[in-house]
Amino acid sequence: MATPVSMESPLGARMRVNGRDVDYFCGTSYFCLHGHPQVIEAACEATRQFGLGPGTLAHMPVYGDLQQQLCDWFGTEQVVTMISGYTSPMALLQGLRDSFELIFIDEATHYSARDAIPTIDKPVHRFRHLDADSLADQLSRHMASHQRAAVITDGVFPSTGSLAPLADYRKVMEPYDGSILCVDDSHGVGVLGSSGRGSLQHAGLEGEANFFAGTLSKAFGALGGIVPANASLAEKIRSNAMILRGASLPPPGAAAAAITAMRLLQTTPQMRTDLERNVRHAREGLRNLGFEIEDTPVPIISIRGNVDFEHVRAELDKRDIIVKVTPASGYSDAPDVPTIRLAVFSQHTPEQIDRLLSSIGAVL
Ligand SMILES: Cc1ncc(COP(=O)(O)O)c(C=O)c1O
Repeated sequence: MATPVSMESPLGARMRVNGRDVDYFCGTSYFCLHGHPQVIEAACEATRQFGLGPGTLAHMPVYGDLQQQLCDWFGTEQVVTMISGYTSPMALLQGLRDSFELIFIDEATHYSARDAIPTIDKPVHRFRHLDADSLADQLSRHMASHQRAAVITDGVFPSTGSLAPLADYRKVMEPYDGSILCVDDSHGVGVLGSSGRGSLQHAGLEGEANFFAGTLSKAFGALGGIVPANASLAEKIRSNAMILRGASLPPPGAAAAAITAMRLLQTTPQMRTDLERNVRHAREGLRNLGFEIEDTPVPIISIRGNVDFEHVRAELDKRDIIVKVTPASGYSDAPDVPTIRLAVFSQHTPEQIDRLLSSIGAVL
């Protein structure tokens, strides 16, 4: 039985867990910005200046600064913000609800979009995970002429790191004029695409009928949901999505943390280069150990195969290396067999990754 994990320091590639300094390969802080001293300091300063919460009315200047920083990052007129990433697909879909008649959703899409769907009140059809042919089949079965589809998927799936084949989806959507693609890109924003705008940028699909929602709680080192939008969509979200009227924004400290984290990413391109290097290193090394590992820039790596992964996890733990076993069907997209989910960070050193790989090799 695994000892419960007690995290005793800020998140990092090297951090304090259960009274020990360990190499940490879990979670979603891909640039370790949650633990970055400047991010922590920005959060403390904003908290001292503005207090812990906005008390519903968020008129502190830090929110305007966050808005500007987000628009600069995503190149959009506005970025709608809300309390959590979990609620951002809901806000996006509610904002767009007059733009489609039917919903088609990858069956392994995150709980956030699945929970949002009943609030839209439209027929829903599921297609097989990552399968554009299955989407094509569902579209041809259910779409009547002049109907428009909303196709919903994660951009990057959270436990396996699989990339949705967005370009293939767009291709099979071509016969259905006016159909839209809605991506939960919580794990893509900040990481994928030439300037970190996420999965749509990575797939060359930034444009009118392709939308995404995301979070500040992973690559961006803070907390809060985001929907980059033009002024008209932002207006529709504000009038349709009651979460924008009825829920507080993230605390000022989180807003300030996100601003500082994004500025650090913009002024230190080395962070993204280091992450890319580490992802290549880890993926290649695991392939050399005999695992089937795709060649993608995603920092979530799923190790599968006929191996006792709980044994591997426990042996790595003895060497002060922390990895996570995802139980069979233990998360929205988790396979029906146990896997190891590795998270690679920009701050891991090549030596840490080599030690992880050689340790896995030694305990197999
Ligand atoms: C795909 C996906 N969407 C949404 C969320 C929720 O984001 P947040 O924790 O920022 O609310 C998660 C959380 O892990 C996620 O993996």
